[in-house]
Amino acid sequence: MNQNTINILVVDDDSGHLMTLKTIIKSWGFTAEGIDDGMKAVQKVREAPYDLILMDVRMALMNGIEALQQIKAYNPSIPILIMTAYSSVETAVSAMKAGAYDYLTKPLDFDELKMTIERALEHVGLKEENKALREKLGLDFDLKNIIGKSRPMKDLVDMVAMIAPSEATVLIVGESGTGKELVARAIQANSSRREGPLVVVNCAALTETLLESELFGHEKGAFTGADKKREGRFMQAHKGTIFLDEIGEMSMMMQAKLLRVIQEREIQRVGSDQTLKVNVRILAATNRILEEEVAAGKFRDDLYYRLNVVAVKVPPLRERIDDIPLLTHYFLNKYATINRKQIKGFTPASLDMLLKYSWPGNVRELENAVERAVILALGDYISEKELPLSLTKSYSFEQKIPESPKSASDAVSLEDIQKQAILKALKETGGNKSETARKLGINRRTLYMKLEKFGVK
Ligand SMILES: Nc1ncnc2c1ncn2[C@@H]1O[C@H](COP(=O)(O)OP(=O)(O)O)[C@@H](O)[C@H]1O
Ligand SMILES: [Mg+2]
Repeated sequence: MNQNTINILVVDDDSGHLMTLKTIIKSWGFTAEGIDDGMKAVQKVREAPYDLILMDVRMALMNGIEALQQIKAYNPSIPILIMTAYSSVETAVSAMKAGAYDYLTKPLDFDELKMTIERALEHVGLKEENKALREKLGLDFDLKNIIGKSRPMKDLVDMVAMIAPSEATVLIVGESGTGKELVARAIQANSSRREGPLVVVNCAALTETLLESELFGHEKGAFTGADKKREGRFMQAHKGTIFLDEIGEMSMMMQAKLLRVIQEREIQRVGSDQTLKVNVRILAATNRILEEEVAAGKFRDDLYYRLNVVAVKVPPLRERIDDIPLLTHYFLNKYATINRKQIKGFTPASLDMLLKYSWPGNVRELENAVERAVILALGDYISEKELPLSLTKSYSFEQKIPESPKSASDAVSLEDIQKQAILKALKETGGNKSETARKLGINRRTLYMKLEKFGVK
């Protein structure tokens, strides 16, 4: 690792201490910047990428723990070391809980500081996390695999934990890409049927006839092409769980047959009048609003009530933007591991872009964007250039760019020109104010004043 490219932010309100720390850190070959308050540190992290933060706890405007929490919520990839007073065990504990990489007690032992910094930087590329992740990938569907700390996701995970052990039929609703299948797998993995099979059927993928034989099986010669007897998916799911995805796409005829299975727990192969008992738990998912489908006569109300015994709603990503940094970090690790790439994180401008986008394709779209970015990334950090162009379209100030004057007689004031230049620069920097100011050759204060004057947020 080339140490000159490693940028460490030191946060301490004791100017003497700050100076000493910066000097010693630089003497180890790192780049060091200093700042005297937690609030300013949070701001800094939104302006430039840092590889590590060394932070004091007691500071005037915002203490180190609060700053740590805010930084972690914005960018979980940066390792943060907390410096505490010798006596303050509780502070050290809360720092670790809030996601600090480690803590150091004051007065600092500089050898220990150097070792801890080096160890934390080793983690860049997130080796241990990756190892754990590699073991987990595709293997288990623990509730821990549902990433998200926002209120709606916490509620969802609690709900899943509560209903999983029951035998109840569960209807999982939510837009495409929100994680419905993940929820179904978590329910199965946390149920008493966890040792049994989980059979996934996409009801939208097959025609009516094929779906019937897929679900219930068929006898030899039941229809043209049925040259062998075939066991259906329900039978395969015996003593386990069947997950009927996209159930809103099922035809009325199939809905009637499914209703019978749910009521009687028995099936009939296509071409047979023999009924077979089957022991399955049914989970279903749809991105449609089934109440509307029922009202429109496209979905049987009796089936709807049977399925809807327990309903789990998975919220769209735009209603839980707090989860974006965490998901982004998770997918970054996942795809950096898979692609064997060392990437430290996202630049603030690219992270802002991810946060401002509306994500119509939800978590799946985010996952795809991160995967693509990891593959394209050449540097240490993922920048806006590696993100899909569609993400730039959602900027709120985009619409505010005034059209150019329509005729020569339209007066163009100096102010208009300034405003256009600022908006253009803002757009080009992905909304990053510091970069915008730098680009325009004005200081940040001036930029903020102008933005306020022009009524741009
Ligand atoms: N909360 C989450 N944490 C981690 N990964 C998620 C989460 N939600 C969705 N994903 C991932 O996003 C992708 C789409 O999820 P999926 O369950 O297939 O969505 P849906 O069935 O609602 O269309 C999958 O790769 C899934 O693992
Ligand atoms: Mg799905």
